[in-house]
Amino acid sequence: MSTETAISERIAISRKAALDLQERIAALASCTDKPGEILRTFLSPAMEEVHQQLRWWLERAGLQVNVDSAGNIRGLHESESGDSPVLLIGSHLDTVPNAGAYDGILGVLMGLALVEGLRARRMPYAIELIGFSDEEGTRFGIPFIGSRALAGTLSEDHLLNSSDKSGITVREALAQYVEAHPEVTPSVFSKKTVGYLEFHIEQGPVLENRNLPLGVVQSVAGQTRCHLVFKGNSGHAGTSPMALRRDALATAAIWMTRCEIIATEVDGLVATVGQISVEPGGVNVIPGVARCSLDVRHADDVVRNLAVENILSEAHAIANRRGLAVETHIYHTQPAVHLDSEMIALAEKAARKAGFQSIRMTSGAGHDAMVIAPHVPSTMIFLRSPGGISHHPDESALIEDIEAAIHTGLCFLDEFAAFVTKKESDPRA
Ligand code: GLV
Ligand code: MN
Ligand code: MN
Repeated sequence: MSTETAISERIAISRKAALDLQERIAALASCTDKPGEILRTFLSPAMEEVHQQLRWWLERAGLQVNVDSAGNIRGLHESESGDSPVLLIGSHLDTVPNAGAYDGILGVLMGLALVEGLRARRMPYAIELIGFSDEEGTRFGIPFIGSRALAGTLSEDHLLNSSDKSGITVREALAQYVEAHPEVTPSVFSKKTVGYLEFHIEQGPVLENRNLPLGVVQSVAGQTRCHLVFKGNSGHAGTSPMALRRDALATAAIWMTRCEIIATEVDGLVATVGQISVEPGGVNVIPGVARCSLDVRHADDVVRNLAVENILSEAHAIANRRGLAVETHIYHTQPAVHLDSEMIALAEKAARKAGFQSIRMTSGAGHDAMVIAPHVPSTMIFLRSPGGISHHPDESALIEDIEAAIHTGLCFLDEFAAFVTKKESDPRA
């Protein structure tokens, strides 16, 4: 096939595949644990529905499908010969509450679109698609359960000390899942997994601002998550003079504004209090307890760790000044990750070959790639997010950008073929 024919064939495949992908995104958006919004959590009934739908599409595309013991769905497109390297392509299937339809799902469906785009062609490597069971951490507060299980980094602490709203621990949830699905396979990397590719919406405004469809991720910012409990005294809202109160919520509010100031003062630092609950929670009762979450991110781990120290010591100082106690607990730390330079170069070359200019980017959002990258050379390709909107029902992607991503992905598969063939013949290359 001439180069021109190959290019025009890929353009035609990408156009049709982009439309199919959007239809699939709309279909999966109806799989939800909460009618009226998109919510899919780790091992939930809605996740089961997504698995059923995906299994149907993957099997129809000729993949061998299985679900592993961490609830990750996996599909294998065999290579042209037996014992070949494996390229893993995927993202996550779970969502935040009141989510958009693209975060995570897009990366899984991109993998399917690429395998379909090969039109049964076998490569010198196998392609394994993966839909991770948990990346957001919505059910247990700890993110990346699916990818951590695969990478073997799900610790005893994660398994035993995180529980959902009903008090079920991660270990118990996994045990129940395996009991109900005795056919699951072990959650481990397939032998000879030599690369990981993840497509994802950018979830921010940079690409739109630069008027570009695609970006190649070079690093993912590290993240820390904490719980704080401010403990004061509850009391009567009518009879307690202001000067004599120990109001836990008012104290937490002062601390929150300090968080915002601290984060604003450091370039690239972000700090978010996304959850707060108050006890006892009466309109005419002074809050005696305020529980807050804290999420802090920066591309430089030293800057992030210093900021966390600073924000938590502010909590103690403010509580102390107002005569309250505060307990702080860091329960999740994920260091910043640099993605693989050879994989990044392949993604950039693929975008160029497909006719698109791309830029290198740092991701402020967390991704499964940051858990996989320390174990398998990884790269990510971002698609422009209209309005920079994500973790919101209005999240979207432009059809022409999905088309650009599919075309780039098909070029990536060819570049990767040349890359692994060269590596196999000379491992030092
Ligand atoms: C996931 O989207 C995260 O960045 O928290
Ligand atoms: Mn997300
Ligand atoms: Mn995501």
